[in-house]
Amino acid sequence: MELDELEKDLTEKVSAASDEAALEGLRVHALGKKGVISEKMKVLGKVSPEERKTLGPALNGLKTRIGDAIAARKIVLEDAALEARLATEKVDITLPVRPVQKGRIHPVTQVMEEIAAIFADMGFEIREGPDIEDDFHNFTALNFPPDHPAREMHDTFFFNEKEDNSRMVLRTHTSPVQIRTMMNEKPPLRVIIPGRTYRCDSDQTHTPMFHQVEGLVIDKTTHMGHLKGTLKEFVAAFFEVDSVETRFRPHFFPFTEPSAEMDVKYERMGNEIRIGQGDDWMEILGSGMVHPNVLRNCGLDPDEYQGFAFGMGVDRLAMLKYGIPDLRDFFAADARWLEHYGFDPLDQPNTATGLSR
Ligand code: PHE
Repeated sequence: MELDELEKDLTEKVSAASDEAALEGLRVHALGKKGVISEKMKVLGKVSPEERKTLGPALNGLKTRIGDAIAARKIVLEDAALEARLATEKVDITLPVRPVQKGRIHPVTQVMEEIAAIFADMGFEIREGPDIEDDFHNFTALNFPPDHPAREMHDTFFFNEKEDNSRMVLRTHTSPVQIRTMMNEKPPLRVIIPGRTYRCDSDQTHTPMFHQVEGLVIDKTTHMGHLKGTLKEFVAAFFEVDSVETRFRPHFFPFTEPSAEMDVKYERMGNEIRIGQGDDWMEILGSGMVHPNVLRNCGLDPDEYQGFAFGMGVDRLAMLKYGIPDLRDFFAADARWLEHYGFDPLDQPNTATGLSR
């Protein structure tokens, strides 16, 4: 009789337990080492054998039923707690993505990606090379004669002499990667080579570190018309305006023959730059037909292969397209400048939906 009452009392308390802590308290109270049921078990040893026959199973049954009741209640409470948490942590996945407010793409990165998108459409692949170059790739293989003043044409940053008297350089242009590409791959070649370049120079349109994208096309019948057509097509696509006036001007590079520089018309209005109109020309790239000596230096037969190359100044192109007056600001790491001139990281430049938005 006493056990029936105890069971009724405990069962009611279990189903009334309102959270997992209360339930655990009850478990200790009933089934813990000094719990009420455990205490009763201890008496078993002292009762007569006949009494034990009925009391034993009764106590064990009670213990099992209370244990089961607690376990069942525990599952109910856990489910309820999970439901409550899910209800408060609900996210409305139909809400539009919030635009990223912090973090902008630098105009140089943007323009590099725009250039890559345009040339990718024309079937060009991307190649890269090291910023620290040896004399062979940066000069000699590109047909700069030894001790020729043409080497001084670039204000080169030299490293200290090595034991064999050779000196590594910070590459003065991306053209050494032309050499690396021609020596490692078989024509036909159609590649662009984006990268950092270095010259000891600093003013409103020059910085000691700047960016170039090199282009190289080698095949059996490539000629100057392809060079002009490719670059004109590029300029029209890049500037995204109706008309941009350009001109090719004869020039000299040791590694191309003939050579030409391409200028774009622009206008400076106070602190602003406008592209395509005005009276000023800004040089944006050097180009030419790859010199037979350069082909030979790379193991190609000039009677079989020919091609063209170009190298464009990415920073200049960014200044012109986005009206940025001073090149040195590009590297000043001013967050307000980047907020103003930077681009949304979610807008990937491509020629189908527009390069810049
Ligand atoms: N390397 C040249 C420069 O930096 C540009 C160039 C590249 C010219 C390829 C011709 C061909 O000025």
